[in-house]
Amino acid sequence: MRIHSVRVKNFKSLRDVHMKEIPNFAVLIGANGTGKTTFIDVFGFLRDCLEHNARTAVQKRAGFAQLVSRGQEEETIEIELKVELDFSSGRQRRVTYALGIGEVGRKIIVRYERLSWKRGSYGRPYNFLDFKDGQGMAVVEAQDKDETDLDRNYETLDSPDILALKALGNLKRFDAASQLRELIEGWSVSDFHIEKARPEPDAAPAEHLNEDGSNLALYAQFLADEHPEIFASLLEKMQERIPGISEVTPEDTGDGRIALRFRDAAFDKGFLARYVSDGTIKMFAYLALLADPDPHPLLCIEEPENQLYPNLLPILAEEFAAYTQARRAKAQVFVTTHSPDFLSHVPLESVYWLEKSSGFTTIRKAADDETLVNLVNEGEKPGWLWRQGWFKGADPS
Ligand SMILES: Nc1ncnc2c1ncn2[C@@H]1O[C@H](COP(=O)(O)OP(=O)(O)O)[C@@H](O)[C@H]1O
Ligand SMILES: [Mg+2]
Repeated sequence: MRIHSVRVKNFKSLRDVHMKEIPNFAVLIGANGTGKTTFIDVFGFLRDCLEHNARTAVQKRAGFAQLVSRGQEEETIEIELKVELDFSSGRQRRVTYALGIGEVGRKIIVRYERLSWKRGSYGRPYNFLDFKDGQGMAVVEAQDKDETDLDRNYETLDSPDILALKALGNLKRFDAASQLRELIEGWSVSDFHIEKARPEPDAAPAEHLNEDGSNLALYAQFLADEHPEIFASLLEKMQERIPGISEVTPEDTGDGRIALRFRDAAFDKGFLARYVSDGTIKMFAYLALLADPDPHPLLCIEEPENQLYPNLLPILAEEFAAYTQARRAKAQVFVTTHSPDFLSHVPLESVYWLEKSSGFTTIRKAADDETLVNLVNEGEKPGWLWRQGWFKGADPS
C-alpha cells in the first residue's frame, strides 16, 4: 500500500497543489511559511476526519474560515489521493480517493466522497463508493462475481459530516473502503515532544511509539522484551553515535511505572530519562520509532534535526530510507527539514521544494530540474546545492 500522488485544493496555503510520483521517502524543503507543515497536516486532517468526523477535523483547525484558502471562502476543500491498495483477494489496485469538504449555512458537510478505480489510462472510472452530501452507494464486493454485476448498496449516512469510509469501512463486504480505512488509521503524524518522553509512564502495553512520544519507556520495554535483536541493534547505534552512552534500559520503578535509564560508561548508575540531554532522548526516540517491527504505512516527521548534533543527521537520513525498504517495502515516510546536513544524505529523487507564489504554495520535484540532476551527477551534495542557492526560492537559513 502506498501513496502515489496527493492533490489538494483550498486547504490553507495549498490553493492548488499536486504532488505526483511520490517516492517511498519524500523530503520537503522550503523557506518558513511556504506550507511544509500545512502539507503534512493534510494527512493529519484526513485521519481526524476518519477518526472523528469532518466537523471536528475542521474545528481542530480553528474553523472553516481559517482553514479554507484566503479568498476561496465559498469553495470546497478538496483532497485527492492515488493509492496502491491491497484487496482481500490478493489483488493490488491503484485507486483514487477524492474528498470534498465545505461549509453550508454554518454546517460542515462532506460535499462528496468517491473511491474509484480506473482500468488503463482511458477507461471510465469505476466507483466503489460514491457519496454526495451524506447519501450515496457503495459496491458490495464478492470474489466470485464480475465487477459489472456486483451489488450496490444505497445508504444515507447518520450525519453529512461523517465519512462514508468511516460508516462503511468497518464492514468487510465493502472491501475497498475497509482497506483504505485501515491504511489511513495506521498513519502516524509524529508530534514528538521531548518533555513528554521524559517522565516515567504507568505500565501499559505499547506496541508502537505514540505520536507525542509519551510512551517512549513503555515502547522501549516492548522492544527489549519482544524484539531483543531489534533493541540490541538500536543500542549499538546509540553507542556508536552518542559519546558516553553505554546502555539504555527500561526498568520497573516498583510502583507501577516504567522508567528509562541511560547509562554512561563513566558512571555506575545510569541517569533517568528526566536528566538526559534533549538530543540523546530525541535520537533514541527516532531510532526506536524507525525500528518499529510493524511499521506504519505512512510516517510523517517534521524537522527531525532540531536538538540533534549534525553528525547524527546522516544516520537518521539512512534510517528513514531504510524504514521504507526491504521487508518494509510497504512503508512510506514524509519528512520536512531546514537542515542542509540532513539533505546531503537524502537522494535527489526524494526532494521536493516548496515556494510561495502570490501567497500560495507551489511544489516542485528536485529531480525534474535538469541543472540539479546534473550537479548531483557530478558529485555535488543536495545540501550543499541548497546552501548555494540552487533550489531557487528555498533558503536554508
Ligand atoms: N487560510 C489560509 N489561506 C492562505 N494561507 C494561509 C491560510 N492559513 C495560513 N496560511 C499561511 O500558510 C503558510 C504556511 O505555513 P506553514 O505550513 O506553517 O509553513 P512552513 O511549515 O513551511 O513554515 C503561512 O505563511 C500562513 O500565513
Ligand atoms: Mg513548519
